[in-house]
Amino acid sequence: MEVALNNSQKFLSKIATNDGHGENSPYFDGWKAYDTNPYHPQNNPTGVIQMGLAENQLCFDLIQEWIEKHPEASICTPEGGFDFREIAIFQDYHGLPKFRMAIANFMSRVRGSRVRFDPNRIVMSGGATGAHETVAFCLANPGEAFLVPTPYYPGFDRDLRWRTGVELLPVVCGSWNNFKVSLAALEEAYEKAKESNIKVKGLLITNPSNPLGTFFDKETLKTLVTFVNDKNIHLICDEIYAGTVTKDNEFISIAEILEESPTICNHDLIHIVYSLSKDMGFPGFRVGIIYSYNDTVVSIARKMSSFGLVSTQTQHMIASMLSDDDFVENFINESRNRLANRHDLFTRELAQVGIGSLKSNAGLFFWMDLRRFLKDATFESEMTFWRIIINEIKLNVSPGSSFHCSEPGWFRVCFANMDDETVTIAVRRIKSFVLKNKLFEIKSKSKKQCWQNNLHLKLSSRRLEDIMSPQYSPLNSPLVRAQT
Ligand SMILES: Cc1ncc(COP(=O)(O)O)c(C=O)c1O
Repeated sequence: MEVALNNSQKFLSKIATNDGHGENSPYFDGWKAYDTNPYHPQNNPTGVIQMGLAENQLCFDLIQEWIEKHPEASICTPEGGFDFREIAIFQDYHGLPKFRMAIANFMSRVRGSRVRFDPNRIVMSGGATGAHETVAFCLANPGEAFLVPTPYYPGFDRDLRWRTGVELLPVVCGSWNNFKVSLAALEEAYEKAKESNIKVKGLLITNPSNPLGTFFDKETLKTLVTFVNDKNIHLICDEIYAGTVTKDNEFISIAEILEESPTICNHDLIHIVYSLSKDMGFPGFRVGIIYSYNDTVVSIARKMSSFGLVSTQTQHMIASMLSDDDFVENFINESRNRLANRHDLFTRELAQVGIGSLKSNAGLFFWMDLRRFLKDATFESEMTFWRIIINEIKLNVSPGSSFHCSEPGWFRVCFANMDDETVTIAVRRIKSFVLKNKLFEIKSKSKKQCWQNNLHLKLSSRRLEDIMSPQYSPLNSPLVRAQT
């Protein structure tokens, strides 16, 4: 994209001055809206509640308890100070052997111990963000492309494209089949690229999906693997939400497909991106992992990892924590339980006022369906409604367009970055907005019957145009006024 350059920018590189970071998308705009008016129960009770951040803060009590019990895991305590010297001078880009071993075991444990990972294939990076860029550098040249099913995590546009010059091409998925990736859609995207003379080097999937909160079934994974094998292109599987699958469901990793059906494809084509940002809730530690089945990619990625190593202090602590099998077992189970409860609470409450969502069982979010509220099925209407949500309901949820969704009216709602009290307030705000604007009428015969009938809700005829009275115009919001 051509960007108008100011004087100081004219002396800089193309990468420094292009718009590849993507900071100007609505995804980041929502964060800015939150930053200017953040909700605080006492200091700013009418502020914006942050529901655009996929953070897992539901099990910090367990982490804190472990840290208090294990002062030796930190080199900054009297108990751990003895290791300070050894840890501080370690600089091998292979990483501490005990760290790689602990990560390999944890990755296996998170996948129900049905697969094993070789510690010698574990390559470090600065979060999954760094891992994706490294993989892109290893697999593709500038101008070459990866196919990505939509909707997808907006950060991919930055992580895989910005500094590498690689392109991302959408594989269009939609609500007609619950956003499942079909072979027809893959073939279509591949053919389109061919027609445009763009060389496709791989397929990038997020399993479980951000923003959908769903994960791939075995059949679909086999279809994808067969597809990449037939085309002789790579498959990058972002599995950073593997441990968020709710309690009664079993996540299926690409590793499981390879172990179960070793001859299904050329293993050199398969690469997993992982991190501790979501499953453990440690985005600040920047622990990212590249796990490739391709020896050359392991070797090259390891050399490249010099640009984004995980500090040895963090490796040391993580190695201790993740080697504690009882802790890990308890943490994973408890985290999955708490996420399931939070997910169910949120979606159930919204269903009471007729707000539906895609059926999901993973992730730190759900995919809310507000298509019925839009004036018309356009992304302009989606943005108008999104501004109402930010400025009037005061919730920062993320619009589907920022995830390259092909259908207007879907929004991602994050639910694991807040405490129970904030959840109550968020739900109350949504419900009262819907009821106040008569977007729904509850046809209640008797309260009991209502519950029995799974809450019979009637969509009233009021839509977006009705709530665009001056009182509700986002244009009246100080925030929008400030932005325009
Ligand atoms: C699908 C996906 N991949 C990668 C990332 C980046 O993760 P990290 O914090 O480990 O860099 C995110 C963060 O939200 C994500 O959702």
